[in-house]
Amino acid sequence: MKYNKTENKLKFDYNNMTAAFIGERGFTDKELHSMNQAAKAAFDKVSEGRGKGWMGWTELPYNQSEIVEDILATAKDIRKNFDNFVVLGIGGSALGPIAVYQALCHLHHNELPKKVRKAPKFYVEDNIDPERMNALFDIIDPAKTMFNVITKSGATSETMSQYLIVTDILKEKLGDNYKNNVIATTSAKSGNLIKIAKAEGFKTFYIPDGVGGRFSELCPVGLLPAAVLGIDIKGMLKGAEFMDKTCNKSVPAKNPALMAAVLQYLAMKKGCNVTVMMPYADSLKYMADWYCQLWGESLGKAVDLDGNRVNAGQTPVKSLGVTDQHSQVQLYTEGPYDKVVTFIAVESFRSELLIPDGAEEYPDVNFLCGATMGKLLNTEREATEYALMKAGRLNNTIILPEVNAFTIGQLLYFYELQTAYEGALLNIDTYNQPGVEEGKNATYAMFDRKGYENKKAELEARPVKSAKYII
Ligand code: PA5
Repeated sequence: MKYNKTENKLKFDYNNMTAAFIGERGFTDKELHSMNQAAKAAFDKVSEGRGKGWMGWTELPYNQSEIVEDILATAKDIRKNFDNFVVLGIGGSALGPIAVYQALCHLHHNELPKKVRKAPKFYVEDNIDPERMNALFDIIDPAKTMFNVITKSGATSETMSQYLIVTDILKEKLGDNYKNNVIATTSAKSGNLIKIAKAEGFKTFYIPDGVGGRFSELCPVGLLPAAVLGIDIKGMLKGAEFMDKTCNKSVPAKNPALMAAVLQYLAMKKGCNVTVMMPYADSLKYMADWYCQLWGESLGKAVDLDGNRVNAGQTPVKSLGVTDQHSQVQLYTEGPYDKVVTFIAVESFRSELLIPDGAEEYPDVNFLCGATMGKLLNTEREATEYALMKAGRLNNTIILPEVNAFTIGQLLYFYELQTAYEGALLNIDTYNQPGVEEGKNATYAMFDRKGYENKKAELEARPVKSAKYII
């Protein structure tokens, strides 16, 4: 599908990050200009790194034409032959598919009749809660389900345990044909899943070497589930490409992702350790979960690239407008000055509802009549933005003219770029996650995995919990 670039361009409104609007806690033009050199260095670093090391994600809008055709052909078969499509994955192998499904499918996709839905029902199992997995098997027929096992490392315990459970059930039902119900999306070189996939003869898609989990939505990790759901994946990639081109200047005032990174950097320096993403659209609700992983795991680092202890990062918080106006906005307006709120606004909703007349005798209700629900939602967003501004709270807004494949591609790429720039400004390794290793290794040790005997000994020597503190 073709998208008009002018009509579908994302905008970044940072008025309420400036001193002119929110007063002393905002940034002056002088402060912003003082960041130009550091911003240029971050821009250059990201530009020079493109396509190298862990920065393979920058090239995804450009280098996947063959893969996309394979994905579309595979998706067509799945749509014809399966009732359900289940993703088995966690973290970066799940959050992108969930976010894009929510954004670009009907909000009650699974409940629609099959002929309206025109795609299988969609589920993402991104936890190992046995009740949840059993509940899934209560509602799907595994024989009519395609399972897409997604793991970059090909070794993640959660995903591999799900894989074992699912294939055991499939083998019992389908015998040798079970392999027709499994697609593996994994690294071509490392991990066990690729070995298993080759041995079993599964259809396989590859996660490129230089694309890490949380940067993988625009590769087969996200593209296959999206294509199965009938989402315009070429449109998403075009949107990402458009954002890449929009952000090709080293001056923040001309590069929205760089400006957004600079503003968060300045905010962090002033003690804003919390970043809230607050979409005003249910379709974008899970974009906030995707963003939380991207921002949290990429930037939360103990040491910088020179080995200095920095304990960098900001705690990402997800919030939903208007729902959380009735739960969290009190805190954002009057609590500690430790947050930046980013609203995600949608100008035009894909469907509307008129609030009808019917309360003429009740002026306190009647004022709503005749407006659309979308207008009420956006007015409340504007009003909340105003309240935060008046309270001197840092906030900014990303504006989507509409939610469609092209704008979602832009949004995903915008945040990936912003995260890369932010990591460069903070001089940290954006692409590793050493902080999650300890927990993983302790699990392996407790499960008596070979090679983790020393860790097991270390765990056994840990202080025994006191009953005194368990009440
Ligand atoms: O961003 C990352 O690399 C991680 O959060 C991974 O996405 C997550 O741990 C899942 O890893 P894998 O895809 O290897 O199963």
